[in-house]
Amino acid sequence: MHRLLIKNAKALVGTFPQGKQVMSGADMARLPMIEDGWLQAEDGRITAMGPMSAFAGIDDWSDLTVIDATGRYVLPGWCDPHTHTVFAAPREEEFVNRIKGLSYQEIAARGGGIINSAMKLRAMSEDALFAQAKGRLDEMMRRGTVAVEIKSGYGLTVESELKMLRVAKRLKEALPLQVKTTLLAAHALPPEFKDDRNGYVDMICDTLLPQVAAERLADFVDVFCETNYFTVAEMERVLAAGRKHGLPGKLHVNQFTSIGGIQAAIAHHAISVDHLEVLADADFEALRIAHSQRSVASDGIEVIPTLLPSCSFFLRIPYAPARRLIDSGLPVALASDHNPGSTPSGNLNLVLSLACIQLRMLPEEAITALTLNAASAMRLGSELGGLTVGKRASLIITKEAPSLAYLPYAFGTDHIDTVLIDGKPVRSGAALQ
Ligand code: NIG
Ligand code: FE
Repeated sequence: MHRLLIKNAKALVGTFPQGKQVMSGADMARLPMIEDGWLQAEDGRITAMGPMSAFAGIDDWSDLTVIDATGRYVLPGWCDPHTHTVFAAPREEEFVNRIKGLSYQEIAARGGGIINSAMKLRAMSEDALFAQAKGRLDEMMRRGTVAVEIKSGYGLTVESELKMLRVAKRLKEALPLQVKTTLLAAHALPPEFKDDRNGYVDMICDTLLPQVAAERLADFVDVFCETNYFTVAEMERVLAAGRKHGLPGKLHVNQFTSIGGIQAAIAHHAISVDHLEVLADADFEALRIAHSQRSVASDGIEVIPTLLPSCSFFLRIPYAPARRLIDSGLPVALASDHNPGSTPSGNLNLVLSLACIQLRMLPEEAITALTLNAASAMRLGSELGGLTVGKRASLIITKEAPSLAYLPYAFGTDHIDTVLIDGKPVRSGAALQ
């Protein structure tokens, strides 16, 4: 049995109570902490913690790793509940075209965008896709990510969507971090179906989804519900088919326009509504009502608004109104949206800074949104997202830092010293020496 003892931590941050799945509204800023703390883990799970003043000491020193975290914060590892990390190639040419003045939508209309990525992915082997995505996830783990959701959506044929999800499954088996997967075949209408929208949605619902469910290749379904992409009615068809196979929705809604996707997502018991850069009053109201009725949600956990500020940063589009969501009593989660078109970064430390700087979230709110709420936005809230007895010992140990707010404040600096996943280092810094 391998055991781990972290002692003298400047603070254990995010010591959420057992059973707590989501923090909402004003509670998001009440980030529980133990100052001058110790934490113990056995076989990859957190077993005990407390303040040093109450540390009873250790009798059995066999097979024990001791970390002196003097001056350092210990945090739950970041959870990333929205990514498109399996892709074939970057899209720097679109980046340069946007600098010259084209918009994301104009580039897509010229055959760039998601379709461009799909053509490249269809031509790439499973092994090559795996090797590339593994490299990206290795870097994300070093930056503190301990769980990730990965979407399909660059195949847009039965065969290539399945290929993406099989790559994601291999990543899950090969890497120590937790991986959840989402079928996002309704990401863009592929050219083969340009005159047959219904035919494409039929193919997703009648052919792809049953196969994905039978092979257990996905946990959730997603639809890019947006003007010029998929309509609310089309999203509802995919959501209904997903539910039939036990796959709840995690949805791209309200990125550029407000067309009623949130209301439909709630009606279909979606677990998260993601993006939300453009929210009308009616959208806030729908979210507020869903929150007040959360006890009747399918699994008792409410729909979680999931915000992606590094996408807004990169595309120069509006930032989601996090302040109004939280001040209305709602929960908020954060994610990277890592993908080649709108967010070529999976660095959640940057998301932490952007959440504070651009979304005006307090450091405590942003940390809650990247840990407990992010874990629950991919249904991992019982396993991850807090320094809580029984949860996985998947944690970040920072470099020495003067305060917790210093982490988002000194943006662009690498504040992470050590990252542990299930008690084992995926990055070893000075704290482990
Ligand atoms: O979440 N908005 C839709 N999907 C991605 C971008 C996909 C792409 O441009 O390749 C997003 O931003
Ligand atoms: Fe996305």
